[in-house]
Order: sequence, then C-alpha cells, then structure tokens
Amino acid sequence: MEKGSPMSSIIERHPDHFHLKAGGASYILHVVNGKYLAHAHWGAPLLTWQGANAPRFVDRSFSANPAGSTDRTFSLDALRQEYPGYGRTDFRSPAFEVQLADGSTAVDLHFVSATVVSGKPVLEGLPATYVRDPAEAQTLQIVLSDPLSALTATLTYTAFQNYPVVTRSVRFTNAGRQSLTLRRVLSFSLDLEGEGYRWLQLSGAHVRERQVVERPLTAGTVSVESRRGASSHQQNPFVALLSGRADEDAGEVFGFNLAYSGNFLAQAEVDQFGITRIQAGINPFDFAWKLEPGQSFQTPEAILAYSGNGLGELSRTFHRFYQNQLCRGPQVFQERPILINNWEATYFQFDQKKLEAIVEKAQPLGIELFVLDDGWFGHRDNDKTSLGDWTVDTKKLPAGLEALADTVHAKGMKFGLWFEPEMVSADSDLYRAHPDWCLHVEGRDRSESRNQLVLDLSRPEVCRSIIDSVTKILDGGKIDYVKWDMNRHLTEVGSAGRGADRQRETAHRHILGLYEILEVITTRYPQILFESCSGGGGRFDPGMLYYMPQVWTSDNTDAICRLEIQWGTSLAYPPVTMGAHVSAVPNHQVHRITPLKTRADVALVGTFGYELDPLSFSEAEAREVSQINAWYKAHRAVLQFGDFYRLKSPFEGKGNTAWMTISRDKTRAVLFYYQILAQPNAGQVVLRAKGLDPGRTYRVEGDGVTGSWSGAELMGVGLRLPDLRGDFQSLRLSLYS
Ligand code: DGJ
Repeated sequence: MEKGSPMSSIIERHPDHFHLKAGGASYILHVVNGKYLAHAHWGAPLLTWQGANAPRFVDRSFSANPAGSTDRTFSLDALRQEYPGYGRTDFRSPAFEVQLADGSTAVDLHFVSATVVSGKPVLEGLPATYVRDPAEAQTLQIVLSDPLSALTATLTYTAFQNYPVVTRSVRFTNAGRQSLTLRRVLSFSLDLEGEGYRWLQLSGAHVRERQVVERPLTAGTVSVESRRGASSHQQNPFVALLSGRADEDAGEVFGFNLAYSGNFLAQAEVDQFGITRIQAGINPFDFAWKLEPGQSFQTPEAILAYSGNGLGELSRTFHRFYQNQLCRGPQVFQERPILINNWEATYFQFDQKKLEAIVEKAQPLGIELFVLDDGWFGHRDNDKTSLGDWTVDTKKLPAGLEALADTVHAKGMKFGLWFEPEMVSADSDLYRAHPDWCLHVEGRDRSESRNQLVLDLSRPEVCRSIIDSVTKILDGGKIDYVKWDMNRHLTEVGSAGRGADRQRETAHRHILGLYEILEVITTRYPQILFESCSGGGGRFDPGMLYYMPQVWTSDNTDAICRLEIQWGTSLAYPPVTMGAHVSAVPNHQVHRITPLKTRADVALVGTFGYELDPLSFSEAEAREVSQINAWYKAHRAVLQFGDFYRLKSPFEGKGNTAWMTISRDKTRAVLFYYQILAQPNAGQVVLRAKGLDPGRTYRVEGDGVTGSWSGAELMGVGLRLPDLRGDFQSLRLSLYS
C-alpha cells in the first residue's frame, strides 16, 4: 500500500487499511497478500479498526489457491473482496467479466495504487451525486490492474461527511495493445458477513409500481433486473438488506441504489460459508462493450447507505441525500406549485376553448400551474400518430401555444407542457424522413408498443434532432414546466449507427444519449421545472432525478392504490420527488369511488395537483378544493422539505396506513391516517407518532382532534384517533409547537 498522504478526517489511510468515515458509518477495506483488495467492514461507525474481524485463512476443500501460491489455506473463494473477478479461484458471482483478444476470460485485477482527493470528481456523461463544496466529501481512488493484459480498473469510493453514504463506481481502461470486450462491469460488489439477512425489493407493474417485497436470503442467489431498456415499473434499482430483526425503527439496514435508468441487475448471493455478496450495475444480459487500446469505460454510480436504526432512518438518509446531493437546479429548494393537468380531463379531445375553461375554473380555486398534456402537436387525436412532429396542431390551438401560455400567465398561473421526445410514430413526418432513426434490426420487422417506435439515442444525429425540436418550443420562453414522458420499452435493440461487433453496446449507448439530451436541455433552461414520467413511474430512479427533480409516480391515481405505491416509493425517494394528483371518481384505472378528501389526503404527501376536469365540480366540491389548496399552501414547506416518518404500512394487516412529515426544526408536523375498509364493532386506534421532539408540546388540530400534548406522550403513548365511518376515509392532523 502506498505511503504518503496525510490522514484526513473523512478518509483515513492506515498502513494496512483504508477507513472511510461517512457521517455515522464506517467502510473499511484493505489489501491482502499485497494484491487482493478485500472488504473488512461496512456499517456501524468505528473510531479505529484494529482487525478484530481480520480474515483467518483455513484450508477449504474445492477452493483452489491462486496461481503462484502453494498456500492451501488461501483462496479467493473464501476472501471477502471489493471487486472480484472470475476464473482465478473465486467461483462466486463476479463483479466483472472481460474477454481478452485470445478469447480467454480468466483475468486478475491486482492492487496497484491508491489516492485520496477532497470532494467528488464528476462522472463524465453520467448522472451522479455531487458536492457543492469539496469539504463535503472525500474520494478514494484505487487502481487495480491485470498484469497480463494491462487492463486497469479504477475503483472510486466517495464518503460523505454528513451522510452514512458511500458512493461507488468503476472506470475500466484498456492500457494494453489489443482490443478486449467488457461483458460484465458492475458498479460495485460487497461481501457482507452476518447471517439471516432479509432482502427487500420494490417490484410491480405499470399502474402498480414499487410494491414492497421481502424475503429471507438463504444459500444461493436472489436478483432483480430489467431487460426492458429502462429501469422499469417492474423492478426498481433499489434493494435493501435487513439484518436479523431489523424493522422500520430498529436494527441494521443496508440500502443500495443505482443511478442508472437502463437495464440493470441487483443481486445477492449467499455463498457456502454464509458470506452475502451483494452487487449491482448495468445488466450484463445482452451487454458487451469493445474497448480498443487507450479507451475507457465508466460504470454508473451506486449509492450505498447504512442505518443502524431501521428502514425508516435509511429512507430519511436517502431523502436528504437526494434532495441535497443528487437533484439539481434552482427548482429543487423552491416550493412546488399546485398543478392541474388536462390528461384525465380530456385525453386527446380538447381545443383552445376547453383548455381556457379549465384554466378559468382552476385559478380561483388556488391552482397555480396548468399543464397541457399529450395531444397538442402534429395531428394527434389518438395515440397512433405524430410523435416526433413537435409542431403545434393549429386545428386544436389555432392561436398557437404561445397564445395559450399568455392566457394562462394572464391569470397569474404558470404554464406547463408535455413532451415524449424519445419516441416516434410510424405515422409522422420524422419517421417518413428518417426510417432508420429508430432502434431496429436491419431486415427484421419492427415491434410497436402503444403504436410507437423508439428513437435510436445511441446516434448523435438523432439526439441533436431531439434537442433541436424541443428547444424550438422552449426557446419561446413561455413554458414554466415540462413533463418529459416515455411510453414504451425497447425491442429489436439494434442500431444503424454501428457495426456488428458493437451492436450489444446499443442499449447502454442509448441511455448515454438520453443523458446527454437531458443534460443539454435541463441546463439550458434552469427556470423550467422538469418532471420525468414513463407511463407514470417506469423510470423512478436516481439517474432521472439528477436531471429532473420530480417524477410522475404512477398512472394509477386511485387513492387506495397510491398508498402502496407511495409507501414503496418512499423507501428510497423523497416525497417531494413524487408527483401525486387528485383525480375523478370512479377512478379511471381501477373504477373505485373514494371521497374527495381521501384522494386529497393521499396526494398532499407528494408534489400536489389535480388530474380531472374542474368544470365537473359541484359548488361544494369547489369549496372543498379551495380549502384543500389553502391548507396545502400553509403546509407545503413542511410536506416538501420535512422529514418523512412511516407509521403504519399498507402492506400489513387490513391495509390501514399512516405517515407523517416533520419540519427539520421539529416545530411543525403533519400526520395522515387512512382507513381502508370499515370494520364492524372495531377497536379504537391509538397511533404513536415518531420523530417529534419529546420535550416540546404540540398543539394537534384537524378532523375532530384538538388538544396539546408533549412529543414524548404522542410518541410513547400515542394519540387516540376519532372513529372513522365508512370505507376509504382519512384523517389529516396538523401539529404546531
Ligand atoms: C403516460 C403518462 O403517464 C400520462 O400521465 C399521460 O401523460 C400519457 N402518457 C399521455 O400519453
């Protein structure tokens, strides 16, 4: 190990190990036998590591000793490693796989050098967490190399001063003389000691995203992955390991999230000796990347967070971390406006008069932003046409977009617009002009989904054309908000932009193209609030959050379904990033009828808005909506920027749910309780709050509750809730101190 750099406060270099002290957690790694980068500890904060759990080598039958060693007690098969390979005595899941020019795949990555720098270097071309001031973090870069091929891998670890978070990524460089092929390049690998972990994943489907799924880990492999070309509704690139008895409020929990919006793999393998190897990165399935001499490949970033106090604290770490160190732009810390979106109100059938009537009705109710959704361009009266032709449909909007924006602005409201720039309809001028600009395989017919094809973002000219057509509209300067949608997954993943030997790079190059487009557009218009969307929450991942600080959480706007979707989403992502709207009943997705109050009480927890026709409001409903909006404005600073505590899970018992948000200074809080089905002759609910200041007295108000109690009593004894009559009811309480 190199000697030299002075001991520093966040990352310490000791003669025999590196100690990363990440705000309330320690990450320790060391070099074994002068070559092998090994893992010693991730979790509980330590002042010093003196080797209490240092590896003890014993002869393991059927675990070979690496070439050059005759020590039968030493095998990589039993060593906890930081970035393991395959074919050199470790038989577990490798972090990387490389095919050399001679076709072989047995490759070593031996320790070469290490440096510590202050701050956090930018990940070129990829979204990643960042620091505003170099003092916020330090970065350890460890160079590993294969003596035979001269392939090098630089492992990057950033430890953050104020968060129990370490981020990891890897950069491969072909420093040899022959080309090679990367077949598997995961962003991290971590060998954890300890038994009885439970694996938690967020799985689902379109309109049923991020359901919490948990299972015990036993010998063998568990994984989630996406092969859809997007991070997907089906699996999210967030997983957690809960140790033994850990739950929402207690115990050790390890969270892992990948800042990537394409195909991913997250996996845990429990080996023969009970070590749990957890890994995540670009999905190796259908991936290969040719690296010519001198070329480099950068993996996406993985975010590793630790909590010694359960899942709730882990989530709050992710929430704060993402708000402060991932989301960008002046919008991030501004209160988000109450919006109304015309999608479920009109679908494709609208004209200028109808939209103006919506705006006219919405403004006096306190709504602040009008969003024009799909159908304003080309001749898009249904989803069969016009994606790619981003010029206004003057049949619907004869005076044009800018005139509509002026009408909205004249009302004192902001104006937002929907785009789906990554797609093309076969019936479009763009497709007729450039039939080879979509992902396709020459000579094979093209699969459509929602009647559309995917533009090939792995080609720079296609990206440039998207940037041009979107900027043409945004340059008008009248647009305050953009909803950036993406409504299908990738098939026939091939590109006319490169040769046969690089076709399997297409899916990743496509995502790199997307990131380049988003970088250009979001930095060119810092005044615009961007919301990403992929048929709702099909790309709710840190990669998209880096460019766009909120996401349309789901196309499912039913209040009861949203409890589960928003609960699951909150495991990793802050409520302020979750678009949540009140829609009409019967609900368009599940046909359920729920009270307006309940629909609002669920949506108020995210970035709040409406997705319905306000012209259908009765007078009483209009009054209620005005009151809800006034309440939201008085509480949104707490809701959007406070700390979120989950109290009662929709996935347990009869599904009744509760959560609360507390201002950072603990002087204000908001608490919601939701009853799913009324029960006959039921017991009364006493709900314990969390996160309050025990020494403060809180005045509690709302929905039949008034009184003042100490934080200690509200948390330790609980609050007896009023009885709720009927199905799908809710309580909304404000706490002031
Ligand atoms: C899918 C989105 O999730 C919806 O909100 C809406 O924008 C439609 N696309 C429009 O096509």
